[in-house]
Amino acid sequence: MNTNVNINSEANTNANKQRIQIFDTTMRDGEQSPGASIDSGRKIVIARQLAKLGVDVIEPGFAISSPGDFAAIQHISREIQTVEIAGFARCVKADIDAAVRATVDAARRRLHLFISSSDIHLNFQIRKSREQVIQIARDMISYGKQFVDEIEFSAMDSTRSGRDFVIELVEAAIDSGATVINLPDTLGYAMPHEVEDLFRTVRRQARGADRVRFSAHCHNDLGMAVANSIAAIRGGATQIEVTVNGIGERAGNCSLEELVMAIETRQEALQAETDIVQSEIFETSRLVSRTMRFPIAFNKPIVGRNAFQHESGIHQDGLLKNRNTYEIMDPEAMGIPRSMIILGKSSGRHAIKHRLSEFGIIVSDEQMQGVYEKFIAAADEKKIVTDSELIRMAGEATETQPDPFVLVDLQVISGTQRGRVASVTIRDDSGQERSYSAVGEGPLEAVIRCIQQAIPAEAEFEDLELHSLSTGEDAYGEAVVTIVYDGQRCRGTSIHRDIVLAAAQAYVAACNQAIMGGAARPAADQQAAASEQSAV
Ligand code: KIV
Ligand code: ZN
Repeated sequence: MNTNVNINSEANTNANKQRIQIFDTTMRDGEQSPGASIDSGRKIVIARQLAKLGVDVIEPGFAISSPGDFAAIQHISREIQTVEIAGFARCVKADIDAAVRATVDAARRRLHLFISSSDIHLNFQIRKSREQVIQIARDMISYGKQFVDEIEFSAMDSTRSGRDFVIELVEAAIDSGATVINLPDTLGYAMPHEVEDLFRTVRRQARGADRVRFSAHCHNDLGMAVANSIAAIRGGATQIEVTVNGIGERAGNCSLEELVMAIETRQEALQAETDIVQSEIFETSRLVSRTMRFPIAFNKPIVGRNAFQHESGIHQDGLLKNRNTYEIMDPEAMGIPRSMIILGKSSGRHAIKHRLSEFGIIVSDEQMQGVYEKFIAAADEKKIVTDSELIRMAGEATETQPDPFVLVDLQVISGTQRGRVASVTIRDDSGQERSYSAVGEGPLEAVIRCIQQAIPAEAEFEDLELHSLSTGEDAYGEAVVTIVYDGQRCRGTSIHRDIVLAAAQAYVAACNQAIMGGAARPAADQQAAASEQSAV
C-alpha cells in the first residue's frame, strides 16, 4: 500500500509482514480531550469516514455515560456493518448492560472492559486489594461473555503496575474468556524499551497468552505515544489503539496518522502493515478537526499544514529536482494536495512559477517579473503568501482570468449591543461596483450576508477557521473559508491584520474558485485544498 519511493523496497517485497489492527477510539478517549466536543448526533459522520479509512475497530463512546452517547453507539452499530464496534464499560454490570444493548445490532462487536492494575489506583482510587481486582475482572468478563464472544480486557495503568500482578491479572482475564488483552500506558509514563519488554514478558509468561491478541493503548504525556506503540509492536502487540489527530485525555493518545505512516514508511524496519486506506488520511483528519472543533497544530506530523512545506531555498531547489531529496512520504498518497513548497520571501522565481503551473497558470518571463514584484512586496509585509493571493497576483499581472468578484470595500459596526451592521462593496467581472448591507448576530455573519447578496452562487457556507500567524497586537490573522458548491468543497484563504476583512476576502476567494472551477485551472476542490495547504 506504500506508494513512496522506499530505499529498502527490496526488503519489503521479501518480508512476511505482521498485520496490525487499528482500533480507533477517537470518539471515546478522543472525546475526553479538553476542549474537544462533539454533538452525539454527529458521531455517525465520523464513523462513516473511519469506515472509509479502513480502521478495524471503532469505539464510538461510553454507552452508560449519557443517553446521547448510547443513541450514537446504537446508530453506528446499526449502520456501520463493515467495521467491528467496541462497547466500552467499566467492570460493572450496569456499564456492561448498557454497552451490550447499544451494540446489539452491530454485524461484529466486542465488549471492552477495563479495571485498574497499579497499586496507586488500587489503594487511592478504587480502594480494592489485588485479589478483589482479580475476582471482579473474572466475574465481569464471565458476565459479559454471556452476551458477547469477543471480549477485550484492559489492565488500566499497566505500565506503572507490578509486573507479576499484571501477569496474574492477564491470566485470570484469559481464563475467564478475554480474547484481546490491552496493556495501556494510561499516563504516558513509560519508555519505549520498557513497553517492548512489558509486552514481550507478559506474552511469554502469562498462561494462555498464545490464544489472544495483544493490544497497546499509549498516551502522549511525554510525547512518546507513537514510539511506545511501535515498541509494543516489537514486543508482539498486533492491535494498536489510536485517535485521529492524536486527540485524547491531556496530551492525547497515539495518533492514527502518525502510527500508520510510521509503519508504512518504515516497513522494512518493522515488518508490519495495516489495512488503512492512505488516501483517506487527510480528509479524516480535517473532518475530525472540524466536527470536534479541535484545531491541528501547524507542525503536527503528517496532517499539520507545515508537514510538507519547505521554506528554505536549498530544500525548495532540491525538491523541484527530485522530491526524495527532502521528503520521506508522498503527501498526495494521503490525500494531501501537492503544494510542497511554502511561499515566503525566500522563495525564488522558479518555485513561484512552479506553484502557478500547478494551478494551470502559465506565465511568460515578462509577466513573471510583475508577479514576482507583487509577491515580494506581499511576502515582505506578511512573511507568507497564500495560493489564493498568488493566483490573484498572477491574474492581475497577466490580465487573464480575472476573479469574477472582487471585494472593494467593507465597513462593519460592532459593539456590545445586539445586531452588527455591515456594508460591503463588490466589483463584478463587468467592472460594475455595487454596495450591499446586512445585519447579523456577529460582524462576520453580517459581512457574509452582504457577500451572499452580491454573489449569486448557491453555495453552502461550511466552515471558517481563523489562525493567528504571530503574536502581539499587530499580529496577522489567516482565515480559511470552506464552502460547498455543486457538491464540491472549495476553500479560500486570506491573511490580514483585520480578521473580519481576512474572513470576507477568504469567502470571496472560495466563491471565485467555485465559480471558476472547471475552467483552465484544476478542479476547484483540488485547487482550494491546495491553497489551504500552502499558506505557511
Ligand atoms: O488510558 C487508558 O487506560 C484507557 C483504558 C481505559 C483503555 O483509556
Ligand atoms: Zn486512554
